[in-house]
Amino acid sequence: MDKLQIVGGKRLNGEIAVSGAKNAALPILCAGLLTSGDVELSNVPRLHDVKTILKLLAQTGLTVTQDDENVTLNGANITSLEAPYELVKTMRASILVLGPLLARFGEAKVSLPGGCAIGSRPVDQHIKGLRAMGAEITIEGGYIYAKAKKLKGARILTDMITVTGTENLLMAATLAEGETILENAAREPEVTDLANLLVAMGARIEGIGTDRLVIQGVAELHGAKHAVISDRIEAATFLCAVAATGGDIVLTNTRTDIFDVALDKLREVGLQMDVGTDTIRARMDSRPHPVSFRTTEYPGFPTDMQAQFMAVNTIAAGPSRVTETIFENRFMHVQEMNRLGAAIFTEGNTALIKGVERLVGAEVMATDLRASASLVIAAMAAEGTTLIDRIYHLDRGYDRMEVKLSRVGADIVRIK
Ligand code: EPU
Repeated sequence: MDKLQIVGGKRLNGEIAVSGAKNAALPILCAGLLTSGDVELSNVPRLHDVKTILKLLAQTGLTVTQDDENVTLNGANITSLEAPYELVKTMRASILVLGPLLARFGEAKVSLPGGCAIGSRPVDQHIKGLRAMGAEITIEGGYIYAKAKKLKGARILTDMITVTGTENLLMAATLAEGETILENAAREPEVTDLANLLVAMGARIEGIGTDRLVIQGVAELHGAKHAVISDRIEAATFLCAVAATGGDIVLTNTRTDIFDVALDKLREVGLQMDVGTDTIRARMDSRPHPVSFRTTEYPGFPTDMQAQFMAVNTIAAGPSRVTETIFENRFMHVQEMNRLGAAIFTEGNTALIKGVERLVGAEVMATDLRASASLVIAAMAAEGTTLIDRIYHLDRGYDRMEVKLSRVGADIVRIK
């Protein structure tokens, strides 16, 4: 298993190009199942999760042509309507094939994803929504069996805001008969990016970017071209890195209009930023100020940035308080950061961070994607050498993070 070896204490200087968003690319690739036409995508990030979803899509019969960050999909010859456990268990986003397969082919068999490190993460709302659209769904032997000759439009109010739930139901509704209203829809920019692609494919969707999506089903969708939106989480991760290490970096290929409160919080940390439309210059010359926050749905503070901000807080000049409200177990990085000398105490879903003068390198273990990124940040701020084990988590969602960071001055190498 690969490890990362990081020698801390280096300032970051230079330019980093932000990749396409993982959480937009995954549903967008699944949208290729909705049409027999060519879906031509650009800015698709080079990630392990993208490889996994492409493997899953290819085994349904979807044709995948890939040239670096350009991927063309063709769904004219789909032969299998199944998503097997071996693939779904490695990546929960595989559930996103359920809506498209059922809507276009009237049938799907998709493995239940099961729990994962950050929480139990059920998919009951995806199922509830599809049932409301007339699907017959049974669960047997760990699989979801879904059938519907033709999905019917419905008004669906999910019990909570769910990102992939909204995406699955939105894709299904594009080919349903009549009008579907998704109330309490997720407003994340990645949902909007998917909706924009669907509209380019001929879908009729109103309320894009709001929590009420109104979809008029159409008989079929056609091919389209689309560039995947820039990854706001990757961008904010690099900004946290420079906030923790000090330095002067420029992010390019970003979209500064889709940032949630993360940019405001970075200003509170003390990061000086010049924000253009697709670039951000960020400078940091002082010890970070502590920032307290609660994670919430977009446009609130993203759970996917909680761990990285906590890494900055560990060395801040004062105490902070972080509350995680989206997932029940997303504090696994706390123990590892404490191994580096941080002083973090948890009480239920709240972490109290004391803010220490310095962290010291140690051997730590990555437990999930964003926890891994937070350990990279903490290690870059720490004195001495840190070895991060199990970095396959990082490769799932960051496009060659160690290459991008070493180009701007980090001392970071991958050990095979
Ligand atoms: N939930 C249910 N039932 C459902 C669906 C969700 O109880 O049917 C609960 C979840 O257990 C969770 C909450 O609702 O407590 C919100 O979950 P959501 O469905 O929004 O999460 P997701 O769609 O599975 C996506 C991202 C995550 C990100 C969350 C929250 C993708 C592929 N994944 O997950 O990204 O943390 O939204 O913003 O879009 C990551 O990139 O590291 C990551 C985990």
